[in-house]
Amino acid sequence: MTGALLLPAPFTHVGLDSVGSTNDEARRRVADGTAADLLVVTARRQTHGRGRRGRVWESPEGNLHASFLIRLDRPLAQAAQLGFVAAIAIASALEELVPGADVRCKWPNDVLAEHRKVAGMLLESADDGWLVLGIGIDVERAPPPGESLYAAGALAELGFGGEVGQVLVALCRQLGPWLECWRRDGFAPIRAAWLERARGLGEAALVRLETETLTGQFAGLDEDGAMLLDQGAAGIRRIFAGDVFFPGS
Ligand code: BTN
Repeated sequence: MTGALLLPAPFTHVGLDSVGSTNDEARRRVADGTAADLLVVTARRQTHGRGRRGRVWESPEGNLHASFLIRLDRPLAQAAQLGFVAAIAIASALEELVPGADVRCKWPNDVLAEHRKVAGMLLESADDGWLVLGIGIDVERAPPPGESLYAAGALAELGFGGEVGQVLVALCRQLGPWLECWRRDGFAPIRAAWLERARGLGEAALVRLETETLTGQFAGLDEDGAMLLDQGAAGIRRIFAGDVFFPGS
């Protein structure tokens, strides 16, 4: 997928071969003045793909590595909401590409199919009000067991026989309307759509933070997208960043 693919409007595309990280390539465009709203930078492979919380993101050829430049038209504090917008779009695209698969959104920004993580995202801010939304979807290959914090899978294992370009087009077809919905109506409809597909709602959860591990029941999302962890007598705790596990299932 090198060169430019014709994507559904209003997305435009630049396809690269091998890069360190597509998020860095997108940020470079902000720095050199060639950024455009909804420009998507993809690469066939990344040599230094980044995951959340400083982790490495395995980026072999055959998987989707895409970074979307997004113009933020509201306070930076609301930027994290975009992760939920993207999660719903990815989940909707996967439902189309792998019919019948059980697709779920997992807090904060993962998408699971058949209980395995197949997609993740990394949202970074850049200068002058730009955001970079990096999305990785394991199309052909999942990371080897033991190299991923969560059970991981690839679309190919679920019967998807298409190509990365097809996944990108399906993703853009969903992301466009969901972004428009967020820009027009705010976070409430996004939150509702995410909760409809949430992994583990009402279940016992274990949340690993930087310095402590919490347990409780996953009780929902607050108005900003923070995870609500019901700790019984200790009350409801709002979680802003962490790794979530559901030990019971
Ligand atoms: C995660 O689940 O930890 C986030 C993974 C994000 C990976 C994507 S691939 C495209 C973009 N470039 C990167 O270096 N990371 C993101």
